[in-house]
Amino acid sequence: MALKKQKANPPVVLPVGGGKGGIGKSVITANLGLALARLEHRAIVVDADLGGSDLHNILGQGNDEAGLGEVLTSKDLTVDQVVRPVLEPRFRFVAGDALVVATANPSFQKKRKLLHDIKGLDADFVLLDLGAGTSITVMDFFLTSPLSILVMLPERPAVLSAFNFLKNAVFRALSRLFRRNAKTEAVLESYRSRSRGPGAMKMTEVIDALEQAAPGEGERAKKAVERWRPKLVLNRVRLMDDFVYASKLERWAREDLGLLVEVAAFLPEDDVVRQAASQNMPALDLDPRAPFCRGIALLGLELANWAGKPGAWAAHRDFEGSFERGATEYAPLFPPPGTAIPTAEELLTRLKDLEAKLKE
Ligand SMILES: Nc1ncnc2c1ncn2[C@@H]1O[C@H](COP(=O)(O)OP(=O)(O)O)[C@@H](O)[C@H]1O
Ligand SMILES: [Mg+2]
Repeated sequence: MALKKQKANPPVVLPVGGGKGGIGKSVITANLGLALARLEHRAIVVDADLGGSDLHNILGQGNDEAGLGEVLTSKDLTVDQVVRPVLEPRFRFVAGDALVVATANPSFQKKRKLLHDIKGLDADFVLLDLGAGTSITVMDFFLTSPLSILVMLPERPAVLSAFNFLKNAVFRALSRLFRRNAKTEAVLESYRSRSRGPGAMKMTEVIDALEQAAPGEGERAKKAVERWRPKLVLNRVRLMDDFVYASKLERWAREDLGLLVEVAAFLPEDDVVRQAASQNMPALDLDPRAPFCRGIALLGLELANWAGKPGAWAAHRDFEGSFERGATEYAPLFPPPGTAIPTAEELLTRLKDLEAKLKE
């Protein structure tokens, strides 16, 4: 029997972003990549924080080999040539641009080629550690996959900045969709310039206005927005009460942006992260049983479901109740001080209290 030539599956690409710096994007990318490798998937972590690369530190690697900086400044070097094995067999790493200056804003063509090549890497998962801010480069990396990961801290200003990050991303996605149409671009511009916080505009209005300006285009915009469902990871959580911020963002994104954000994980504040940094190794290697590492493992297990199915997420519709599901799954990592891990009933009561608090 003739052997069929196996067609390699493209990787599931997971951009990890969140607008602000210092919220744990790099720590999460490094440890999640390692967790996926430990789950026997081939994982590559890419330091895409152009101008602020530091993922090599978190992985305990030196800073002396070529990475994205060299790819962006060279004529013929491609990203697959700068992938290097780290820590263990299925785990690989692409450094950023720490050795090269002024690559933070590559041209559209360079960026497009880079993203195209990243999607063609031979792996099951490719994680992209993004930089801070809402620059077009950060947005384009974040939008490169429907399965992007949004990191947020449990604080009120953080929810606002995460919301604005999503809003910027949605507008960037739409303006790329309508690049050549002056009418729709004008509609987008008039909404984009409105005040930034929640309550300033509704995506349904934008879609109606687009539809009026160019019949059919509103529908196209709606589909594009719905197709993209970021997963929210709340990081540095201290108490279950902090969960409330995830629910707040989910609601704002749904009501104002028409965007379905899945509440995916609640990662604890944990000293293991700092200890690991000072010992130059990933937290997962220092103490896999630490609460932060257990949270990362849960998230890795969930994401592992999408291995080999990079397009499937976009068609996935089972979103109702992601906050409750996530909260129930992660609650055991946050027992109130001095008490045992809560029972399922106690958890549900607690969640109802939280919901009531949310509506205040
Ligand atoms: N869950 C956590 N618990 C404790 N410290 C954390 C946690 N997540 C991140 N940190 C700390 O926060 C700082 C910023 O993390 P980093 O991953 O570099 O953020 P970013 O990539 O978003 O700029 C680091 O000092 C890191 O050790
Ligand atoms: Mg970082």
